[in-house]
Amino acid sequence: MSVLKNKKILLAVTAGIAAYKTPLLVRELVKKNADVRVIITPEALEFVTPLTLSTLSGKPVEWEFTKEKGQWNNHVEMGLWADLMIIAPLTARTLSAMADGYCDNLVMATYLSAKCPVFVAPAMDLDMYQHPSTQNNLQKLIENGNHVIPAASGELASGLIGQGRMEEPENIAQFIEEFFQKNQPLQGKKILVSAGPTYEPIDPVRFIGNHSSGKMGFEIAKKAEEMGAEVTLVAGPTSLSIDNQKITRIDVVSALEMKDAIDEKFDQQDVIIMAAAVADYRPKEVFDKKIKKKTDEMSIELVKNPDILKYLGTKKSDKFLVGFALETNNALEHAKGKLLSKNADMIVLNSLEDEGAGFGKETNKVTFVTRDQPAQSFPLKSKAEVAEDILNFIAQNLKKNA
Ligand code: C5P
Repeated sequence: MSVLKNKKILLAVTAGIAAYKTPLLVRELVKKNADVRVIITPEALEFVTPLTLSTLSGKPVEWEFTKEKGQWNNHVEMGLWADLMIIAPLTARTLSAMADGYCDNLVMATYLSAKCPVFVAPAMDLDMYQHPSTQNNLQKLIENGNHVIPAASGELASGLIGQGRMEEPENIAQFIEEFFQKNQPLQGKKILVSAGPTYEPIDPVRFIGNHSSGKMGFEIAKKAEEMGAEVTLVAGPTSLSIDNQKITRIDVVSALEMKDAIDEKFDQQDVIIMAAAVADYRPKEVFDKKIKKKTDEMSIELVKNPDILKYLGTKKSDKFLVGFALETNNALEHAKGKLLSKNADMIVLNSLEDEGAGFGKETNKVTFVTRDQPAQSFPLKSKAEVAEDILNFIAQNLKKNA
């Protein structure tokens, strides 16, 4: 099955003669089960019909900022919808507009709104392609993070022979496929991440909680989605928000609620990452009215919460189970013990003794502890980088077990 399955690909067609090949590109992408939408510059309508492109993509083709009856054609929505945008053919004019951020049509407005990787397949005549302005602009595009699929060599529409032909549609599709293969090692995997603290209610206004901010778990969820996974984030009370609409977020408050939410989604997952700081105990009795301050002393009886990770370990089958551990002494030994007692595949150990690491901080310093590999320690890194290290390690190990 192609990695392009269900990938949202936005094709932008600009006004070069190679536009006549774009229906074949749409066909190629649709054959690989991608979800394709096409936008086009008004000038490109001279080269290829919207009817052909909409018939092949199964979706309306857009080129104006407004639809009939004053309706707005939302380029921001389109830019955010796409997992990948490909501009093919890319003319010298659009190339120059992209290099300068000059926005005078729907394609450019969408390009400037897109947050996804953008590919371009330039197509122009020999001397135009070689011109230093063109080459400088291509370089600028690369510096801005775009991906250039170089023009191929051969016979050109002008009759000249040389570099300038738009790469063939099947090769463009292959470029895109390889990009996803390389950058999305978690493609097709379902990952559940827990994050944040849990709050254990005492009465309607009070609770027992902890200082976990949820940052580590949120970074893991975001990165896992970027790496191709279908992500469910079970979050305890936190002020953090997530603007990636592809992540399913389930908000919970207490450990018991977290356990139920995870349990319900457990069967469908390939990987479970317990980054949440689950409260170990909860008040035995939850008062339904606010407790009055009558006595000088009071005590709250606590009962143990279920250890969610340990519980998941009892029924994990071939799922990859990851726990976190915060240790102050004999860290490695304790982490190894936890790995075995909870039947996890990996423990991410972080030590409170490391400056810059831990609750509420932007950085973390971790060691990966597994059953069959030597412990692997990393330097102090941002939580986003730590998330990437964790997910790359998981992707490697899933591959090994596949
Ligand atoms: O045993 P300890 O609390 O140190 O283990 C930490 C790991 O276990 C974390 O991954 C945490 O999310 C998980 N945990 C849990 N349920 C609890 C306590 C911790 O799943 N009640």
